[in-house]
Amino acid sequence: MASYSFTSLAIHALISIPLLLNLSCLFHNLNLAAAAKHGSSKVYASHHHHHHHHRGNHYHPDSAAASDDSNPRLHRAFLALQAWKRVIYSDPYNFTANWVGPSVCNYKGLFCAPAPDDPKIQVVAGIDLNKGDIAGFLPEELGLLSDLALIHLNSNRFCGILPQSMANLTLLYELDLSNNRFVGPFPTVVLSLPTLKYLDLRYNDFEGPLSPQLFQKKLDAIFVNNNRFTNVLPATLGGSSASVLVVANNNFGGCLPPSIVSFADTLEELLLINTNLSGCLPQEVGFLYKLRVLDVSYNKLVGPIPYSLAGLSHLEQLNLAHNSMTGIVPDGVCCLPNLANFTFSYNYFCEEEGICQNLTSKGITFDDRQNCLPEKPHQRSQKECNATLEHPVDCFEHPCDGSFGGGAAAFAPAIAAVPAATPPSSPFGTAAPSYT
Ligand SMILES: *[C@@H]1O[C@H](CO)[C@@H](O)[C@H](O)[C@H]1NC(C)=O
Ligand SMILES: *[C@@H]1O[C@H](CO)[C@@H](O)[C@H](O)[C@H]1NC(C)=O
Ligand SMILES: *[C@@H]1O[C@H](CO)[C@@H](O)[C@H](O)[C@H]1NC(C)=O
Ligand SMILES: *[C@@H]1O[C@H](CO)[C@@H](O)[C@H](O)[C@H]1NC(C)=O
Ligand SMILES: *[C@@H]1O[C@H](CO)[C@@H](O)[C@H](O)[C@H]1NC(C)=O
Ligand SMILES: *[C@@H]1O[C@H](CO)[C@@H](O)[C@H](O)[C@H]1NC(C)=O
Repeated sequence: MASYSFTSLAIHALISIPLLLNLSCLFHNLNLAAAAKHGSSKVYASHHHHHHHHRGNHYHPDSAAASDDSNPRLHRAFLALQAWKRVIYSDPYNFTANWVGPSVCNYKGLFCAPAPDDPKIQVVAGIDLNKGDIAGFLPEELGLLSDLALIHLNSNRFCGILPQSMANLTLLYELDLSNNRFVGPFPTVVLSLPTLKYLDLRYNDFEGPLSPQLFQKKLDAIFVNNNRFTNVLPATLGGSSASVLVVANNNFGGCLPPSIVSFADTLEELLLINTNLSGCLPQEVGFLYKLRVLDVSYNKLVGPIPYSLAGLSHLEQLNLAHNSMTGIVPDGVCCLPNLANFTFSYNYFCEEEGICQNLTSKGITFDDRQNCLPEKPHQRSQKECNATLEHPVDCFEHPCDGSFGGGAAAFAPAIAAVPAATPPSSPFGTAAPSYT
């Protein structure tokens, strides 16, 4: 499975910590993992980054010594975990069956490591309950686990909201709450975590706007896809550091603000699939010079492909399909040196410039079906094309200012190109997160 070697790598790092390694080594490992750029979590990349720096098969450090009253930090963890167990209502795989007694380092799913500030004592550094199918919620007492560096709760049935006490987890580096039943507004408590680098909230029921501060945090990866977030991306994004931003399958509406350019120095993957985006693609998308993957499919985008996209020299995957875009498919884009897959089907493009007419000759996988390309097979009917071309879009007259429902939305052609119920079949669209 392509997704998620980053996470499993981190877990691997955790469970293979030799006895005497201190937590700073854990952080070292995590940084390596981060440096590996989330490995093949990157949507279309298939290679795995496996930096197995610590190969020992040492499992959790011996915790016989690490227990109880002599170690107040483990005692606080004990109180937290017992409180958590009390609000777990279903645990079909008996993950928490051995969560009894003070030896928390022996609890299933728990990982202890020497404390960074006091290597002589053990602390609870990680929790991995991935694929536990556990139902329950997160209690306030979670704040007692202030030594945690990793929380992985993928594919459970945790519900409710995140406790405010999570602000106490000042060492937390990775927070993966994906594929659960969390609800409520964007959990702003995560914004107060000073060392958080990896935030995965996808496949939950969070709703309302994304917090603008989310894009000011120094995060490496932001996954918020498949929730119920609404409202446009904030007009002022400002200085994000993320290399991966996946917001697919939410209902943002409005248009993509030119301020997306603030991601330019870091962003490599931008996935905006099925987010009810309207208006024109801003020129600024072409200034995201590190982009390798750009997918804006299944939206209501109108207007032309900005010529600036010809500047995306690292771009490998470009998907514009299922919008209402018009105009020509520019030669500059088809000439991009790293372009491997260019999908622009289900739009209203009327001309392919230069080499775009023969992408096969460049070895580029492409899909140009259902456009208005006179010489090509599988195009829209003349009637459909005429109807759209009679209502040209002026992107300059109504630039996106980031306001809700603004931009050129009003100019969207009458013929909706977005299918009603078919979910997009993108790796990040519908594939349930996998952590194997
Ligand atoms: C979990 O424990 C219960 C009660 O001890 C047992 O009936 C069940 O088979 C266990 N389930 C698994 C998956 O081990
Ligand atoms: C936060 O952590 C400290 C220990 O680091 C602990 O004493 C305190 O009770 C925790 N606060 C909350 C709200 O859990
Ligand atoms: C899409 O966004 C627009 C605002 O741009 C909004 O009016 C519309 O209701 C949204 N569509 C859906 C299906 O929610
Ligand atoms: C090209 O991209 C499209 C859209 O993302 C995808 O459906 C298709 O499988 C890709 N083709 C190849 C060969 O990667
Ligand atoms: C595309 O280019 C290839 C090789 O460069 C050539 O064989 C083929 O006939 C061209 N196809 C069209 C439709 O021009
Ligand atoms: C489409 O427009 C062209 C040029 O304006 C016209 O010649 C043609 O008859 C139209 N076709 C239909 C089906 O409306």
